[in-house]
Amino acid sequence: MNALPYCRKEVIGDCTLYLGDCMEILPVIGKVDAVITDPPYGINAARARNSQKWRWKDYGGGEWDRERPSPELIKAIVLKARDVILWGGNYFSDLLQPSQKWLVWDKGQTDFSLADCELAWCSFDGAIRRIEYSRSKAIQDGKQHPTQKPVEVMSWCLAQIPKAKIILDPFMGSGTTGVACARGGRAFIGVEIDPGYFEIACDRIRKAYAQPDMFVAAPKPEPEVQFGLTLEGGDA
Ligand SMILES: C[S@@+](CC[C@H](N)C(=O)[O-])C[C@H]1O[C@@H](n2cnc3c(N)ncnc32)[C@H](O)[C@@H]1O
Repeated sequence: MNALPYCRKEVIGDCTLYLGDCMEILPVIGKVDAVITDPPYGINAARARNSQKWRWKDYGGGEWDRERPSPELIKAIVLKARDVILWGGNYFSDLLQPSQKWLVWDKGQTDFSLADCELAWCSFDGAIRRIEYSRSKAIQDGKQHPTQKPVEVMSWCLAQIPKAKIILDPFMGSGTTGVACARGGRAFIGVEIDPGYFEIACDRIRKAYAQPDMFVAAPKPEPEVQFGLTLEGGDA
Protein backbone atom coordinates (compact mmCIF):
# COMPACT_ATOMS: atom_id res chain seq x y z
CA MET A 1 0.00 0.00 0.00
CA ASN A 2 1.31 3.45 -0.98
CA ALA A 3 0.78 5.96 1.86
CA LEU A 4 2.19 8.80 -0.23
CA PRO A 5 -0.30 11.10 -2.04
CA TYR A 6 1.66 10.69 -5.30
CA CYS A 7 2.76 7.75 -7.50
CA ARG A 8 6.16 9.16 -8.45
CA LYS A 9 8.40 12.11 -7.64
CA GLU A 10 11.19 13.34 -9.94
CA VAL A 11 13.67 16.05 -9.01
CA ILE A 12 15.35 17.66 -12.04
CA GLY A 13 17.51 20.67 -11.22
CA ASP A 14 15.28 23.11 -9.31
CA CYS A 15 12.11 21.38 -10.51
CA THR A 16 10.15 18.84 -8.46
CA LEU A 17 7.57 16.91 -10.43
CA TYR A 18 4.81 14.75 -8.97
CA LEU A 19 2.79 12.12 -10.81
CA GLY A 20 -0.64 12.06 -9.19
CA ASP A 21 -3.83 13.95 -8.44
CA CYS A 22 -3.15 17.56 -7.42
CA MET A 23 -6.20 17.49 -5.14
CA GLU A 24 -4.31 14.97 -2.96
CA ILE A 25 -0.83 16.44 -3.46
CA LEU A 26 -1.61 20.14 -2.85
CA PRO A 27 -1.99 19.76 0.94
CA VAL A 28 1.56 18.36 1.28
CA ILE A 29 3.19 21.04 -0.88
CA GLY A 30 4.62 23.85 1.20
CA LYS A 31 4.39 27.56 0.56
CA VAL A 32 4.92 28.77 -3.02
CA ASP A 33 5.36 32.31 -4.30
CA ALA A 34 3.12 31.92 -7.32
CA VAL A 35 0.86 29.56 -9.24
CA ILE A 36 0.87 29.60 -13.02
CA THR A 37 -1.51 26.99 -14.36
CA ASP A 38 -3.73 25.90 -17.21
CA PRO A 39 -6.43 23.59 -15.82
CA PRO A 40 -8.85 21.48 -17.86
CA TYR A 41 -11.56 23.90 -19.06
CA GLY A 42 -14.25 21.21 -19.34
CA ILE A 43 -14.62 21.68 -23.12
CA ASN A 44 -13.45 18.21 -24.25
CA ALA A 45 -10.40 19.73 -25.97
CA ALA A 46 -8.54 16.45 -26.47
CA ARG A 47 -11.50 14.71 -28.10
CA ALA A 48 -12.42 17.71 -30.25
CA ARG A 49 -8.89 17.91 -31.61
CA ASN A 50 -8.88 14.21 -32.40
CA SER A 51 -12.22 14.29 -34.18
CA GLN A 52 -11.07 16.98 -36.63
CA LYS A 53 -10.45 15.65 -40.13
CA TRP A 54 -7.62 18.14 -40.69
CA ARG A 55 -5.79 17.23 -37.50
CA TRP A 56 -2.03 17.64 -37.61
CA LYS A 57 -1.30 15.08 -34.98
CA ASP A 58 -3.07 12.44 -32.94
CA TYR A 59 -2.48 13.22 -29.27
CA GLY A 60 -4.27 10.12 -28.06
CA GLY A 61 -7.55 11.75 -27.05
CA GLY A 62 -8.48 11.13 -23.45
CA GLU A 63 -11.14 12.20 -21.03
CA TRP A 64 -9.15 14.68 -18.96
CA ASP A 65 -10.99 17.74 -20.33
CA ARG A 66 -14.52 16.33 -20.01
CA GLU A 67 -15.15 18.30 -16.82
CA ARG A 68 -13.52 21.31 -15.26
CA PRO A 69 -11.94 20.85 -11.79
CA SER A 70 -14.27 21.15 -8.80
CA PRO A 71 -14.89 24.57 -7.19
CA GLU A 72 -13.07 23.23 -4.06
CA LEU A 73 -9.95 22.44 -6.10
CA ILE A 74 -9.95 25.84 -7.86
CA LYS A 75 -10.36 27.52 -4.45
CA ALA A 76 -7.47 25.49 -2.96
CA ILE A 77 -5.25 26.49 -5.90
CA VAL A 78 -6.13 30.19 -5.67
CA LEU A 79 -5.33 30.14 -1.94
CA LYS A 80 -1.93 28.50 -2.52
CA ALA A 81 -0.11 31.75 -3.38
CA ARG A 82 -0.49 35.51 -3.44
CA ASP A 83 0.20 35.65 -7.16
CA VAL A 84 -1.91 33.32 -9.27
CA ILE A 85 -2.15 33.26 -13.07
CA LEU A 86 -4.94 30.95 -14.21
CA TRP A 87 -5.29 30.26 -17.95
CA GLY A 88 -8.84 29.70 -19.12
CA GLY A 89 -10.02 32.08 -16.40
CA ASN A 90 -13.07 32.87 -18.53
CA TYR A 91 -14.26 29.29 -17.91
CA PHE A 92 -14.03 29.82 -14.13
CA SER A 93 -15.41 33.37 -13.82
CA ASP A 94 -18.21 32.14 -11.52
CA LEU A 95 -15.55 30.99 -9.02
CA LEU A 96 -12.98 33.82 -9.26
CA GLN A 97 -12.94 37.33 -7.81
CA PRO A 98 -13.28 40.19 -10.31
CA SER A 99 -9.78 41.20 -11.38
CA GLN A 100 -8.22 44.28 -12.93
CA LYS A 101 -5.45 42.27 -14.54
CA TRP A 102 -5.88 39.65 -17.24
CA LEU A 103 -3.29 38.29 -19.64
CA VAL A 104 -4.18 37.78 -23.28
CA TRP A 105 -2.41 35.37 -25.61
CA ASP A 106 -3.24 36.64 -29.09
CA LYS A 107 -2.80 33.80 -31.57
CA GLY A 108 -2.34 36.23 -34.46
CA GLN A 109 -5.21 34.86 -36.50
CA THR A 110 -8.76 36.22 -36.59
CA ASP A 111 -12.08 34.58 -37.42
CA PHE A 112 -10.49 31.12 -37.56
CA SER A 113 -12.56 28.12 -36.43
CA LEU A 114 -10.64 28.14 -33.11
CA ALA A 115 -10.38 31.04 -30.64
CA ASP A 116 -8.36 34.13 -31.65
CA CYS A 117 -7.07 34.55 -28.08
CA GLU A 118 -6.77 32.80 -24.73
CA LEU A 119 -7.30 34.59 -21.43
CA ALA A 120 -5.58 34.21 -18.06
CA TRP A 121 -7.08 35.57 -14.85
CA CYS A 122 -4.60 37.15 -12.41
CA SER A 123 -5.06 37.37 -8.64
CA PHE A 124 -3.08 40.62 -8.53
CA ASP A 125 -3.74 44.07 -9.92
CA GLY A 126 -2.07 45.67 -12.89
CA ALA A 127 -2.75 46.60 -16.47
CA ILE A 128 -4.15 44.03 -18.87
CA ARG A 129 -1.29 42.76 -21.02
CA ARG A 130 -1.22 40.97 -24.38
CA ILE A 131 1.35 38.79 -26.11
CA GLU A 132 1.14 37.89 -29.78
CA TYR A 133 2.47 34.44 -30.61
CA SER A 134 1.07 32.77 -33.69
CA ARG A 135 -0.82 29.51 -33.56
CA SER A 136 1.24 28.13 -36.47
CA LYS A 137 4.51 28.98 -34.68
CA ALA A 138 3.22 27.21 -31.57
CA ILE A 139 2.57 24.07 -33.66
CA GLN A 140 5.96 24.29 -35.39
CA ASP A 141 7.62 24.46 -31.94
CA GLY A 142 6.61 20.80 -31.53
CA LYS A 143 3.42 20.14 -29.61
CA GLN A 144 3.22 16.96 -27.54
CA HIS A 145 0.00 17.81 -25.71
CA PRO A 146 -3.33 18.88 -27.30
CA THR A 147 -3.48 22.11 -25.27
CA GLN A 148 0.25 22.77 -24.94
CA LYS A 149 1.14 26.43 -24.33
CA PRO A 150 4.19 27.95 -26.06
CA VAL A 151 7.21 28.29 -23.74
CA GLU A 152 7.40 31.97 -24.77
CA VAL A 153 3.88 32.56 -23.40
CA MET A 154 4.75 30.93 -20.06
CA SER A 155 8.08 32.84 -19.87
CA TRP A 156 6.09 36.03 -20.43
CA CYS A 157 3.81 35.01 -17.52
CA LEU A 158 6.92 34.67 -15.34
CA ALA A 159 7.98 38.19 -16.36
CA GLN A 160 4.70 39.49 -14.84
CA ILE A 161 5.82 38.22 -11.42
CA PRO A 162 9.56 39.02 -11.27
CA LYS A 163 9.85 38.53 -7.49
CA ALA A 164 8.35 35.02 -7.39
CA LYS A 165 11.04 32.41 -6.82
CA ILE A 166 9.00 29.19 -6.42
CA ILE A 167 6.28 28.53 -8.99
CA LEU A 168 3.61 25.81 -8.81
CA ASP A 169 1.69 24.32 -11.74
CA PRO A 170 -0.79 21.72 -10.41
CA PHE A 171 -1.96 20.84 -13.98
CA MET A 172 1.41 20.82 -15.73
CA GLY A 173 0.51 18.66 -18.77
CA SER A 174 3.64 18.48 -20.92
CA GLY A 175 5.52 20.69 -18.43
CA THR A 176 5.64 24.01 -20.32
CA THR A 177 5.57 26.11 -17.14
CA GLY A 178 8.46 23.99 -15.82
CA VAL A 179 10.48 24.51 -19.02
CA ALA A 180 9.96 28.30 -18.71
CA CYS A 181 11.05 28.14 -15.04
CA ALA A 182 14.14 26.06 -15.86
CA ARG A 183 15.12 28.58 -18.55
CA GLY A 184 14.26 31.56 -16.36
CA GLY A 185 16.12 30.44 -13.23
CA ARG A 186 12.99 29.90 -11.06
CA ALA A 187 12.25 26.88 -8.90
CA PHE A 188 9.26 24.84 -10.03
CA ILE A 189 6.81 22.33 -8.56
CA GLY A 190 4.62 20.52 -11.07
CA VAL A 191 1.84 17.95 -10.77
CA GLU A 192 0.36 15.83 -13.58
CA ILE A 193 -2.14 12.99 -13.27
CA ASP A 194 -1.48 11.32 -16.64
CA PRO A 195 1.66 9.09 -16.72
CA GLY A 196 2.27 9.73 -20.45
CA TYR A 197 2.19 13.53 -20.11
CA PHE A 198 4.25 13.27 -16.89
CA GLU A 199 6.97 11.44 -18.84
CA ILE A 200 6.91 14.12 -21.57
CA ALA A 201 7.20 16.87 -18.91
CA CYS A 202 10.22 15.16 -17.29
CA ASP A 203 11.90 14.83 -20.68
CA ARG A 204 11.24 18.46 -21.74
CA ILE A 205 12.49 19.86 -18.43
CA ARG A 206 15.64 17.70 -18.54
CA LYS A 207 16.32 19.00 -22.05
CA ALA A 208 15.69 22.62 -20.95
CA TYR A 209 18.43 22.29 -18.30
CA ALA A 210 20.76 20.63 -20.80
CA GLN A 211 20.40 23.40 -23.39
CA PRO A 212 23.59 25.42 -23.65
CA ASP A 213 21.66 28.57 -24.64
CA MET A 214 19.59 28.50 -21.45
CA PHE A 215 18.79 32.08 -20.53
CA VAL A 216 17.65 33.82 -17.37
CA ALA A 217 14.93 36.34 -18.19
CA ALA A 218 15.70 39.71 -16.65
CA PRO A 219 12.86 40.67 -14.28
CA LYS A 220 11.05 43.72 -15.65
CA PRO A 221 9.01 45.52 -12.98
CA GLU A 222 5.70 47.12 -13.92
CA PRO A 223 5.76 50.94 -14.06
CA GLU A 224 4.65 52.54 -10.80
CA VAL A 225 0.97 53.54 -10.74
CA GLN A 226 -0.52 56.55 -8.90
CA PHE A 227 -4.20 57.45 -8.86
CA GLY A 228 -4.88 55.40 -11.97
CA LEU A 229 -2.09 57.02 -14.01
CA THR A 230 1.34 55.58 -14.63
CA LEU A 231 4.19 57.84 -13.59
CA GLU A 232 5.38 57.59 -17.20
CA GLY A 233 2.02 59.04 -18.29
CA GLY A 234 -0.91 57.24 -19.92
CA ASP A 235 -3.74 55.23 -18.46
CA ALA A 236 -3.11 52.41 -16.01
C1 LIG B 1 -4.87 22.07 -20.10
S1 LIG B 1 -3.78 20.75 -19.76
C2 LIG B 1 -2.23 21.59 -19.39
C3 LIG B 1 -1.37 21.75 -20.59
C4 LIG B 1 -0.07 22.46 -20.25
N1 LIG B 1 -0.28 23.88 -20.05
C5 LIG B 1 0.98 22.26 -21.34
O1 LIG B 1 1.53 23.26 -21.85
O2 LIG B 1 1.26 21.12 -21.68
C6 LIG B 1 -4.30 20.21 -18.19
C7 LIG B 1 -3.60 18.96 -17.67
O3 LIG B 1 -4.08 18.71 -16.34
C8 LIG B 1 -4.04 17.30 -16.12
N2 LIG B 1 -4.93 17.04 -14.97
C9 LIG B 1 -6.28 16.97 -14.97
N3 LIG B 1 -6.76 16.76 -13.73
C10 LIG B 1 -5.68 16.70 -12.90
C11 LIG B 1 -5.51 16.52 -11.49
N4 LIG B 1 -6.57 16.34 -10.69
N5 LIG B 1 -4.27 16.54 -10.99
C12 LIG B 1 -3.18 16.72 -11.80
N6 LIG B 1 -3.27 16.88 -13.15
C13 LIG B 1 -4.52 16.88 -13.70
C14 LIG B 1 -4.47 16.71 -17.45
O4 LIG B 1 -4.03 15.37 -17.61
C15 LIG B 1 -3.83 17.69 -18.45
O5 LIG B 1 -2.60 17.18 -18.93
